[in-house]
Amino acid sequence: MSTTELTIVRPDDWHLHLRDGPQLASVVRFTAQRFGRAIIMPNLNPPITTTPQALAYKARILAALPAATAFEPLMTLYLTDNTTPEIIADAVASEAVYGVKLYPAGATTNSDSGVTNLALCAPALETMAELGLPLLVHGEVVDDAVDIFDREQVFVETVLAPLLQRYPDLRVVLEHITTRQAVEFVRAAGDNVAATITPQHLMFNRNALLAGGLRPHNYCLPVLKAERHRQAVVEAATDDHPRFFLGTDSAPHAVSAKENACGCAGIFSAHAGIELYAEAFAAVGRLSRLEAFASLRGADFYKLARNTETITLEREDWRVPDALDFGAELLVPFRAGETMHWRLRRETGSG
Ligand code: DOR
Ligand code: ZN
Repeated sequence: MSTTELTIVRPDDWHLHLRDGPQLASVVRFTAQRFGRAIIMPNLNPPITTTPQALAYKARILAALPAATAFEPLMTLYLTDNTTPEIIADAVASEAVYGVKLYPAGATTNSDSGVTNLALCAPALETMAELGLPLLVHGEVVDDAVDIFDREQVFVETVLAPLLQRYPDLRVVLEHITTRQAVEFVRAAGDNVAATITPQHLMFNRNALLAGGLRPHNYCLPVLKAERHRQAVVEAATDDHPRFFLGTDSAPHAVSAKENACGCAGIFSAHAGIELYAEAFAAVGRLSRLEAFASLRGADFYKLARNTETITLEREDWRVPDALDFGAELLVPFRAGETMHWRLRRETGSG
């Protein structure tokens, strides 16, 4: 008998881009309908580099939610060459900042203020290791000499491994992993190292980007990889390892910025932020593992209480809209126009 309904503890999204202003107001409700909490990426323009900025951004996120929505944004800071130990101590004291994001300068969208040389961040990293504040890592080198499909693997070998040798207690989340090498690194690492996994890297290999035409809406960074890597990532998400968990990396861009001679990196998936994972887990007969991946392991790693509410997914077809509002523009959601087979049951009345 195939499953037709699945009730799980309300999931959390451990990697999310919400943008700001009218764009924020357009997208945040999709996440709040599904997830209890989300780790909010700080790559605004200009970036969120201090706790007062993070608290102000958190207030804007809460203000953009529909009334009576229980959703907690977990804020992060953007690491720069100039992040001081005081900035880290303030973040920890605020109890509102849950991580510090490392973007190698130039690696991706709004990463220009990112880190040019990790050695410059030594005082901040030491303090983070001491105070237990996680470093959230965009794990790609930015070297023109390195093939774009190899940038994660080279980062793991040449940046992440030495970083953890230097700071063995540093808590690290390797974000949006895409390769067998990243999976193996996290499996072999200590309890202080975890990884998030996106829906697109579970569902698609690089053919979805390049075969039969160039598909800008499947372009994100790290870029989709070969099938053997996708399989390794699926295995990591769906087995019972405690340190791989859900992070959508939902990253909205206006359609004009994606369908462009130099299109932006980023896939918007919040409109189906849990349903997509249900499909990916069902595809390998591992739906029973979805709850641990989506709702339990991330909270455990971040040392937060697990959610107590539940959500229910139903096996029912629905069509992903071709476009959604995005401030004054439109965005094209992941799998636009396609049929999804799992649907979120909407709460009816009080319960
Ligand atoms: O594809 C991506 N989009 N990767 C990132 O690292 C950033 C993100 C964004 O902010 O658009
Ligand atoms: Zn991201």
